[in-house]
Formats: sequence, C-alpha cells, structure tokens
Amino acid sequence: MAVLPIRILPDPALRRKAKRVRNIDGSIQRLIDDMIETMQAAPGVGLAAPQVGVQLRVIVFALPGEEVVALLNPEVVKRSGERLVEEGCLSIPGYQGEIKRSLSVTVKGRDRQGRQVRIRARDLLAEIIEHEIDHINGVLYIDHLESRDKLREIEPDQDTEATAI
Ligand code: NI
Repeated sequence: MAVLPIRILPDPALRRKAKRVRNIDGSIQRLIDDMIETMQAAPGVGLAAPQVGVQLRVIVFALPGEEVVALLNPEVVKRSGERLVEEGCLSIPGYQGEIKRSLSVTVKGRDRQGRQVRIRARDLLAEIIEHEIDHINGVLYIDHLESRDKLREIEPDQDTEATAI
C-alpha cells in the first residue's frame, strides 16, 4: 500500500468524467488499498480515484471510527430531502463552503469482490457519498455554491465544522 499525492484544484484530473471499471483485477485492488491509505493519511472521510489522478469510477469512504467502504461504478438511484452543510474537499485545501445536500440517498454499485451492493445513507454519510460521486463526474462542491460569498477561506490548521472529503 502507498499514500498517493492528492490532486489539488486546478488540476485537470479533477474535471474529467471518470470511466467505468470493467475488470475488478489486481490493479483495482491495489488502487483501492492505496486510496484507503491516502484517505486515512490525509485524514479524510472519503476519496475518489480522480483525486489521485486515476480516471476510474472508484470511491472509498468511512464515517469516523467505522469500517471503510469501497464502491465501484456507484450510482445514486434515489435521493430525498435537503439540508445545508459546511463542506470542504481534500482537493481544495484552505476553503469551505455552505451548500445543499440530500438528506438521504440510496446508492448502488459493486464492492471490491464484484458483488452488487445497495447502500442507504443519510446525513453525513449521504453527503460524503454525493461528494465522491460528484468527483467521478468531474464535479466539485464549489459548483454547488449559490454565490461566491458562501465560500470561506480557513486557516490550514483551523479546526472547523466542515468535513474534508
Ligand atoms: Ni473532495
């Protein structure tokens, strides 16, 4: 396993639509392991493959203290409700912004063994999953800001409410 460098805006890797994973082979298993290690080292609660320069639809995430989940080709099949969140992104250090996310989502995809999985998530976990699926579509949370004044600059070591995802 290895900690990979995280791409920072305006790296063009963050703006491409990633490709579907076709074969879940050894290189995908290594990618997932490296992404988990990179996410934990950051530290963050979620990471998408384009953030480490790999244009594949792979995301990993974990609520603090909970088991890491890896999802391949994830798709939101249902979303409901709305809530305001303070969000940050490992690829946009030094900023956080207020945006709207779904209250709950249902997502389907494959796990690292290739099994079909369906996950229902709400609140922070729903936010993380929406954020990571945005990443594999080349979308960043700043795209959801209603206006520029919803974005705030923060000190690098400032303890904030925003989640680094
Ligand atoms: Ni992010």
